[in-house]
Amino acid sequence: MALSLPSAVALVFLTAQVTHSAESNKCVGRNFGHDSVVCECNSTYCDSVGSVTLPPLGQYSSYLSSMAGSRLEPGRGQVQVNSTGAGLRLTVVPYQKYQKIRGFGGAMTDAAAINILSLSAGAQDQLLRQYFSSEGIGYSVVRVPMASCDFSTRLYTYADTPGDYNLDNFTLAPEDVNMKIPLLQRAQALSPRPLSLLASAWSAPAWMKTNDALIGKGSLKGQPGGKEHKTWAQYYIRFLEEYAKYNLTFWALTTGNEPSAGQMTNYSFQALGFTPEEQRDWVALDLGPALHASSYPHTHILILDDNRLLLPHWAKVVLNDIHAGRYIHGVAVHWYMDSLVPAEMSLGVTHHLYPDYYLFGTEACAGWNPLDRGVKLGSWDRAEQYAHDIMEDLNHYVVGWTDWNLALDQTGGPNWVKNFVDSPVIVDTKRDVFYKQPTFYSMAHFSKFLWEGSQRVGVSASRKTDLEYSAFIRPDGSVVLIILNRSSSVILFEVWDPAVGYITSTAPAHSLLTLAWNTH
Ligand SMILES: *[C@@H]1O[C@H](CO)[C@@H](O)[C@H](O)[C@H]1NC(C)=O
Ligand SMILES: *[C@@H]1O[C@H](CO)[C@@H](O)[C@H](O)[C@H]1NC(C)=O
Ligand SMILES: *[C@@H]1O[C@H](CO)[C@@H](O)[C@H](O)[C@H]1NC(C)=O
Ligand SMILES: *[C@@H]1O[C@H](CO)[C@@H](O)[C@H](O)[C@H]1NC(C)=O
Ligand SMILES: *[C@@H]1O[C@H](CO)[C@@H](O)[C@H](O)[C@H]1NC(C)=O
Ligand SMILES: *[C@@H]1O[C@H](CO)[C@@H](O)[C@H](O)[C@H]1NC(C)=O
Repeated sequence: MALSLPSAVALVFLTAQVTHSAESNKCVGRNFGHDSVVCECNSTYCDSVGSVTLPPLGQYSSYLSSMAGSRLEPGRGQVQVNSTGAGLRLTVVPYQKYQKIRGFGGAMTDAAAINILSLSAGAQDQLLRQYFSSEGIGYSVVRVPMASCDFSTRLYTYADTPGDYNLDNFTLAPEDVNMKIPLLQRAQALSPRPLSLLASAWSAPAWMKTNDALIGKGSLKGQPGGKEHKTWAQYYIRFLEEYAKYNLTFWALTTGNEPSAGQMTNYSFQALGFTPEEQRDWVALDLGPALHASSYPHTHILILDDNRLLLPHWAKVVLNDIHAGRYIHGVAVHWYMDSLVPAEMSLGVTHHLYPDYYLFGTEACAGWNPLDRGVKLGSWDRAEQYAHDIMEDLNHYVVGWTDWNLALDQTGGPNWVKNFVDSPVIVDTKRDVFYKQPTFYSMAHFSKFLWEGSQRVGVSASRKTDLEYSAFIRPDGSVVLIILNRSSSVILFEVWDPAVGYITSTAPAHSLLTLAWNTH
């Protein structure tokens, strides 16, 4: 049977793509004077480890990234029958079972979309493939801001007509229709599985708010159950309906980005203040019932969407209420100031109090701290910050981790309030290239290997160690062990999986290592 013209064209196109990603693999490293390198990619070349398949039983795969310049460097070795005897042993304990992974990803902000689209079509395609295709790093989650946030070039919501309680004038912005939506559709087309889209709003329209502005300290007028609270719930439903017209359906929505920000005097960008009590009652009286009655009743609702220092108090207030709790699926956390709040006291306690609700990381970025601001090309230190936080979260019941902007420019923007930060992908529009930062590989060591449904299992160390580690059994029975070495003390180690044997390995100075092996 002859091929129809469109499928013949599609076939040629696919063949060309496959060839070209197979021949590109080594990192083209560039040093910008920090402690490590970035990998430079352009319209025709980008480093990639390709699709990963594990060797047969009795062998293991390893992937190494390091300050010294390795980037997901693949290796293979033989699983040994006997222990080498010496040093630290990490024993995988498969019968100790913890949470199952949902996924990893980043955010399609206005800034990310502007930056991606500032590249040539070929370079855009390379960038999206790096995150979403099967040769990429396995992103499956995309957070989508509802209307503007600080990473926008102007202030807007979808319903800026004062007094529009019926949302008659609700309309998506040009940023959605011309930039974010087409990019999300391209990402979805590249992805081997349906993306899990996650929506978060920064501010309600000014006319619904006590301060009549998108920024600063302000909350919804009136009380939960009142007309502003009802309209604000309907705004979410309208958003889901409008995106669905473009075949983009959402896995989850949050109750709003950083509700604590809108409680701060003179907060400098878009925010909507909620106390946990008001959030509880808004979910119980307005958002929950509205979503339940909508065409999208299975969309998950995640509360908090703010820093873990608010836990477990916030969760106690909201989840102890059965009227709110029955509509809620999880608790979303941001990573800012994590170093001040022990994971066990916040995440661990919340999990143990409310084991039926999952914990999910919805925002993180490097370069946000005033003492260490903006883009740092090639910073390994920031790769360690990412890997440390992801590992700590995973070891405390978190089921996924979402980075902030998918791509930024070299100043760490655009951002209308100049709140410039770093991103795993930095674009240089003039040269039509993008740089994959060390943080890109930190994400990859987890996102490429921990498929949805992978379950964290126990690991026991034969003695105290500075290594950080986390082990998982994937749905096909294979084991993934991720090891971070931020230490300066000398330690040798081996891994013991009682099901297969011993693996002797080294984690070089300042390195991140993913080991994986089949068990049958
Ligand atoms: C892309 O990068 C590769 C590898 O550095 C280089 O050989 C090639 O010339 C570059 N292509 C363009 C269009 O700059
Ligand atoms: C493993 O150790 C046992 C007992 O010490 C020994 O008999 C055996 O030969 C060893 N096997 C291998 C493959 O080294
Ligand atoms: C709102 O929508 C109505 C009818 O759909 C239209 O007549 C009106 O001009 C719109 N108002 C604004 C401010 O866009
Ligand atoms: C809608 O998206 C799904 C994947 O999420 C895809 O399978 C389906 O073909 C798409 N439908 C249309 C009409 O594009
Ligand atoms: C908030 O802004 C107002 C007006 O600019 C100013 O007068 C006030 O001092 C600011 N308050 C704080 C706490 O910064
Ligand atoms: C971790 O890195 C240190 C140097 O920072 C090195 O001495 C040590 O051997 C590494 N640990 C392992 C287990 O390889």
